[in-house]
Amino acid sequence: MDTRLIAANPAEVDTECLVVFALDHSVKSQGGNINSKEKPEPRLAVKDAALEKAVADLVSSSEVTGKAFETALLHRPQGLKAKRLLVVGAGKAKSFTHAEVRKAAGSAIRALKPRAIKSCAFLVPDLASGTEDAVRTIVEGALVADFDPDTYRSDRKDLSVREITVVADVGSGVGSGVGSDSGKLQNAITMGRIIGESQNFTRELVNEPSNRLTPTMLGDRAKKMCDAVGLKCELMGPDKIKEMKMGAFWSVAQGSDEEPRLIVMRYEPQGAPEKPVLGLVGKGITFDTGGISIKPADGMEKMKYDMAGGAAMIGAMRAIALLKPKVKVIGIVCASENMPSGKAQKPGDVQIAMSGKSIEIINTDAEGRLVLADGLYYARTLGCTHLIDAATLTGACVVALGYANAGVFANDEDAYQHFTQALQRSGEKFWRLPLDAEYLDQIRSNIADIMNTGGRWGGASTAAVFLKEFVDDTPWLHLDIAGTAWMEENKSWIAKGPSGIGVRSLIEFVRSFEGK
Ligand code: BES
Ligand code: MN
Ligand code: ZN
Repeated sequence: MDTRLIAANPAEVDTECLVVFALDHSVKSQGGNINSKEKPEPRLAVKDAALEKAVADLVSSSEVTGKAFETALLHRPQGLKAKRLLVVGAGKAKSFTHAEVRKAAGSAIRALKPRAIKSCAFLVPDLASGTEDAVRTIVEGALVADFDPDTYRSDRKDLSVREITVVADVGSGVGSGVGSDSGKLQNAITMGRIIGESQNFTRELVNEPSNRLTPTMLGDRAKKMCDAVGLKCELMGPDKIKEMKMGAFWSVAQGSDEEPRLIVMRYEPQGAPEKPVLGLVGKGITFDTGGISIKPADGMEKMKYDMAGGAAMIGAMRAIALLKPKVKVIGIVCASENMPSGKAQKPGDVQIAMSGKSIEIINTDAEGRLVLADGLYYARTLGCTHLIDAATLTGACVVALGYANAGVFANDEDAYQHFTQALQRSGEKFWRLPLDAEYLDQIRSNIADIMNTGGRWGGASTAAVFLKEFVDDTPWLHLDIAGTAWMEENKSWIAKGPSGIGVRSLIEFVRSFEGK
């Protein structure tokens, strides 16, 4: 998808389809009856007389109400140069933020795709957090919406939107090329592109089935990306993993005929301070059968997405390499299959992690924490001062938070502040879950230091305290994305399938350390 920026009056934009957002300005009448329906008060998010005239009939007939992500398409809108006008509802005016801008822009793209409309022009709405924010998130939302997961369908039609134009206010100085806003807005477009494309890169990886994305192939894809954007990338196989005494990682990998890969991507920009060094560690299980503690057949096909945390790190590293923040970042992905076989580890086995801690394996299906234990510890040996991991780690997290929020755990308030700041820019939803010492009691073992499962209750937290044993006092965040990395339903702004959750927040998390 190409992106361009112009400054023009809405009526003058020559495009296949002009897109404008509509907001509902109604407020609950005070002391109103709880049964009384408030009447929507739709108003366009861009003030312009010609536009208002063009949509007047749509508004008076209640086809446009401003309701979140409803769309209305008008052909040959009167008084406008555009061939079509698409009005996209963006919800209540008082709660209109960049999160709605992304979704509204996405809803526009997903309304145009099936109509085979190849280009459109977005009118930038007035947004409290600023025009740059609106421009960036329009581009992010449009790119994310353009993705469809039907890679291997022979009847796949390429319905991609080829070009979007972002139409800034005429007063912005964009056209003149000298206005100070011009550079800033162009920069916002570039940022949006990098972020949206990186999120889609992650989604492509997560979408791949395990026969088309083995740990070896995941490593190769990461390496190819790194070469393209100028990152150092190191791929390590079974010998190196064993040599480094990554007994927890290897215990998962040993059961598979496919070789594991330890993927290390380094971003070390010139002029970056020695510290911090951020370590991004992802779970890269390209297929999780459960191992000897095998999973039921029903729904097992979904476990191809068990590398979504690792893929998020690869996508985030891509964006970081292109956005070039002045902070050192190391991305680490522990890629493996989790298979049953004659070589597979068994419940009761004791493994020694790279850190020296001994682990009693209770359930071979709790494999994510094993590969991450060594990934996190290894990141510390490379000098990482702050750690963040992402993993489709526990079904328990899905039970706790459903599909609406991913889980976040933190052992450090300052790092957590950085993350909440990142969420404010990314628009992704995470909910903090506890990491108290009590959960550690649940994973004490009679024969070893810890067990890899902690019983039925509090499964997301017992998994998190397991990881905590390997990060020690290093400031650390753990993202459990089991419920959010794969979407079961289409939304008007994004296709069902791989969501790319985490990528945007990881990027913003890294950027929040710039100059710190
Ligand atoms: N990859 C799964 C977690 C998962 C489960 C993600 C369901 C999405 C949906 C993980 O490796 C796993 O199997 N976890 C077990 C842990 C248990 C054995 C302690 C789980 O959550 O059931
Ligand atoms: Mn598992
Ligand atoms: Zn798993």
